[in-house]
Amino acid sequence: MPWVAALPVDAIDADDVARWDHAGKSYAIYRTSDDAIYASDGLCTHEQAHLADGLLDGYLIACPKHNGRFDIRDGSPRRLPACVALRTYAVRVDAGVVHVNLPD
Ligand code: FES
Repeated sequence: MPWVAALPVDAIDADDVARWDHAGKSYAIYRTSDDAIYASDGLCTHEQAHLADGLLDGYLIACPKHNGRFDIRDGSPRRLPACVALRTYAVRVDAGVVHVNLPD
């Protein structure tokens, strides 16, 4: 799986989420209050709202449309109406840039 450069870490505030679009797909990249980075598909599995417009609280992202929630560490749904897991991706930071491990 290729590692793809996404966003500078500094483009994501701590305790926040940013949208990253790549190859026709949207992703959400999260930075927790203790500077851990996670990545997932950018669209909610319920009705396709952009999760980057939602609020990050600890390890939970709240969807802006119906307040469904997901655990950003594994994509598991944590509050209805979200009931299908988000796909998550491995990330690493090189020279201040977040890289996401995407499938071929
Ligand atoms: S679109 Fe996200 S919970 Fe409905």
